[in-house]
Amino acid sequence: MTRKILVTSALPYANGPIHIGHLVEYIQTDIWVRFQKMRGNRCIYICADDTHGTAIMIRARKEGRSEEELIGDMSEAHQRDFSGFGIQFDHYGSTNSNANREICSEFWQSLRQADLITERSIEQLYDPEAETFLADRFVRGTCPTCGRTDQAGDNCTCGATYNPTDLIDPKSTLSGATPILRESNHLFVQLEKLHAFLDNWVETSGALQIEVANYLKGHFLAEELRDWDISRPAPYFGFEIPDSPGNYWYVWFDAPIGYIASTREWCESNGEQLADWWRDPDCEIHHFIGKDITYFHTLFWPGMLNTANYNMPTKVHIHGFLNVDGKKMSKRDGTLVAAETYLKYANPSYLRYFYATKLTSRVEDLDLGIDEFTEKVNSDLVGKVVNLASRVGKFANKTGLSETYPDDGGLFTAGALAGDEIAEAYESGEYAKAMRKIMELADAANPFVEHAKPWEMKKDEQRTDELRDTCTVALNLFRQLAVYLSPVLPELAMKCGELLGEEITSWDQSKSPLVGRPVSKFQRMMDRVQPEDLKKMIEESKELAAEDAATDNQPTFNDSDQPLKDEPLAEEITIDDFAKVDLRVARVVSAEQVPEANKLLKLTLSLGGEERRQVFAGIKAAYEPEKLVGRLVVMVANLKPRKMRFGLSEGMVTAAGPGGAEVFILSVDEGAQPGQRVH
Ligand code: MSP
Ligand code: ZN
Repeated sequence: MTRKILVTSALPYANGPIHIGHLVEYIQTDIWVRFQKMRGNRCIYICADDTHGTAIMIRARKEGRSEEELIGDMSEAHQRDFSGFGIQFDHYGSTNSNANREICSEFWQSLRQADLITERSIEQLYDPEAETFLADRFVRGTCPTCGRTDQAGDNCTCGATYNPTDLIDPKSTLSGATPILRESNHLFVQLEKLHAFLDNWVETSGALQIEVANYLKGHFLAEELRDWDISRPAPYFGFEIPDSPGNYWYVWFDAPIGYIASTREWCESNGEQLADWWRDPDCEIHHFIGKDITYFHTLFWPGMLNTANYNMPTKVHIHGFLNVDGKKMSKRDGTLVAAETYLKYANPSYLRYFYATKLTSRVEDLDLGIDEFTEKVNSDLVGKVVNLASRVGKFANKTGLSETYPDDGGLFTAGALAGDEIAEAYESGEYAKAMRKIMELADAANPFVEHAKPWEMKKDEQRTDELRDTCTVALNLFRQLAVYLSPVLPELAMKCGELLGEEITSWDQSKSPLVGRPVSKFQRMMDRVQPEDLKKMIEESKELAAEDAATDNQPTFNDSDQPLKDEPLAEEITIDDFAKVDLRVARVVSAEQVPEANKLLKLTLSLGGEERRQVFAGIKAAYEPEKLVGRLVVMVANLKPRKMRFGLSEGMVTAAGPGGAEVFILSVDEGAQPGQRVH
């Protein structure tokens, strides 16, 4: 019976590039999808970029462009990376889509109708300069326990944990401003009302790995479920909540709904009905996610799906995290390798295979040992699998395949029999086991060629039939492996298909050998891993990280474009034109009110020594005279004196701003002396 299967990977955040850690998930999912398709099931692979939230908003500000432009570029980059690794989505959407906005509204209505939404005011840190509320990670300060400076908003390197409000001298990492506490209204989902439903689902659905179900039962479900804060006040990049203006859905509300929205877009361009996938009990829904986002996918999401009357997940496949050489990936070590960097130095098939050899159905972290990676790929793929073809490939082009499949001592039949077990391993996410089984077959096949010694047969005309038979066996055993490996190594399968003139598309091609047909000219199937290339890859990752760190430390600025709009730049001048204006540093030696004038202060400026100038400046609304005495300013010193009602004005003090209270006198840095010219 063909199954109808909808598969998703977590939607990657649009605020950063894809790295080899992410690829653990996308490669793993792609393998599963390709496997299902080969088995003849109807299977679609749906993903999208996760585009909303504060981080995107901040980054767009920093880069001085719109969020839409930023997420557009990111989506392109992500899709380029994925396709570079052979990851084939049926549809790749964006959470910032109309479809998503509409389906979010639909979910929202269902939650309201089910009386699950409540509203209350909470206090949160607010950055008055960047004009935004601050998540904990955007606050740093001095640890209240040990006094170390520049510590994170919720914990210190000394081990202390605290609230950002406990920090001494807290600073916003966005602007450097001191955050203030501000109240705002938030909307919450009362998850506790779904407690009984979730208990039952976790216990009985079979959708969760046992360790995950146990973890949920022992932690979250053992207590009252806390209300889930699903709104954020403006400014926020996301969807405004239709019945709560000024509030936006928190990114984790609209992100999983993006799975459905992206499916709807796929349906629209493929003449399909959304309900046939998300509301048909015969359709299986499989989510692949990392362990860090378990909570969202095993409690919130099922709760939402059930409330809005969509299919529950058939299975949530949760994987662990990637380490490199036994350590957490790190920018400094160069082990946080971007997908794009990897592709410059190594074949994506290597990583696909390596991950496959590491993946099990359990939630375990996996280690990419650089030496192990080289060793595994070179000995398994190049040494065992490809070798089988390359040892006979050249001869086979001359002999073709025999008319009937020769006696191979039962190798092909044994290989065909292993198919079910291998399929079962793929199905259940035990890829490591599948790879082991396949390599066992390769181990059994290679001695056949070694004993037959086709390179000797080649020298003897009389042995042409024998040679043809040997080629037929070797290439069919190779092809059987290529079929089994094709979810992992689609490119190798394609090359095998080209060699033998029949594309590999179905699992059952492992069951019957090809005979009586020509063999194409043999082409290189896969090269060995070069350890120097991997070194270069790590080096380049280090350099990129260093560059990033340099730009990351730039503070964010959120300057309005209004001033320039109000007063566009003046016509171009030459340096000689500018030299005509004699700007000098001057000290304010006295400042007084001019009782008859509304706007003016009378200033006496010193240009050093005995040189004094009297200037009337339109700054009365902005400055108290006493505060000006002693400070350095920049004056236009060669301006023709002007006779005013109150006396002679012998120059001008430079200042910015539209006027009135909005006047800002230019200051001069410490060390400058009155009389010095400004160039
Ligand atoms: N945007 C959310 C997911 C929303 S799903 C509705 C998110 N994005 S992410 O870009 O941070 O991560 C995407 C997926 O990659 C997650 O499942 C995450 O667990 C996985 N991984 C990210 N880094 C990883 C490793 N170092 N190792 C293995 N998987 C990792 O979370
Ligand atoms: Zn501390």
